[in-house]
Amino acid sequence: MRQKVLITRKPPTYLMEQLSAKFDVETWDFEDQPIRRDVLIQKIDKIEGLLCLLTDTIDNDLLQKSDNLKVVSNLAVGYDNIDVNNAQLRSIQVTNTPGILTETTADLTFALILTTARRIIEASNELRSGKWKTWSPFMLAGMDVHNSTLGIIGMGEIGTAVVKRAKGFGMKILYYNRTRKKHLEEEHGIVYTNLDELLQTSDFVSVLTPLTPETQNMITLNELKMMKKTSILINTSRGGIINENDLITALKSEIILGAGLDVYEQEPIPLDHQLLSLPNVVTLPHIGSASVQTRMKMWELAVLNLTIGLEGGTPPNLVQK
Ligand code: DGY
Repeated sequence: MRQKVLITRKPPTYLMEQLSAKFDVETWDFEDQPIRRDVLIQKIDKIEGLLCLLTDTIDNDLLQKSDNLKVVSNLAVGYDNIDVNNAQLRSIQVTNTPGILTETTADLTFALILTTARRIIEASNELRSGKWKTWSPFMLAGMDVHNSTLGIIGMGEIGTAVVKRAKGFGMKILYYNRTRKKHLEEEHGIVYTNLDELLQTSDFVSVLTPLTPETQNMITLNELKMMKKTSILINTSRGGIINENDLITALKSEIILGAGLDVYEQEPIPLDHQLLSLPNVVTLPHIGSASVQTRMKMWELAVLNLTIGLEGGTPPNLVQK
């Protein structure tokens, strides 16, 4: 009997063909929308393999119904959408797609730093709406990125890739991480600090730590108040790490200067959300890894992880907890 696979979005054709040669594959392909929860629940006990996206919640309720499931392959490096502990208790392999999206996400992080600091979106909108009447000394004046201080929260692969870019801009780089990385300090001249010191001294604070119970709500009004009034907060990790209500308060009352966000507590962020009405925030729709090349590699790796797991091997990107 061929094993059954469910893919919760439409994969590239050649990968679909590759998987279909080995397994019975079904896909959810409805206007590029996430699979409906009731459909997922209805199908979960019939499949051995699930290739899912960060938009799918693979919680214990669902896992309890998954009598035959062997592998959950996530098309993302983050896996906060999956209850990994309970999957492991059921001997279900959970995999992710690390490594390949590092540089692309670091590019986007740096793009957000530059875009927010130099008010690029605001400037472009001013021009197009006919507000550009003359050159003026402080018109749309932003903050310098070069030679400023960057504080990185979470010094993993993406953090390290951001460091390489920041060095080119002559930035002084501080970092805060669960474990100190002395080899990176030696290699790149970055400085390890505690969180308070990082917040107090950085011109740009870049959040790059995964969302876990420990990092949930890590940045609240208390932390935002420690930041410089001229500083900018960048988040290209996960929304739940920053308390959004507190961030709105900080932005409105000029506790910090601005924010560049790619991720939100709720995604898609509702259009009437206050964050979308503030001029000092750049808001992107979770596109950190969204280059054609990287998204193709992510699909390929997710398919590889799934295939190896279903064939009884150890997938290269097995999430270990
Ligand atoms: C991830 O992989 O976790 C990103 O958020 C999407 O690429």
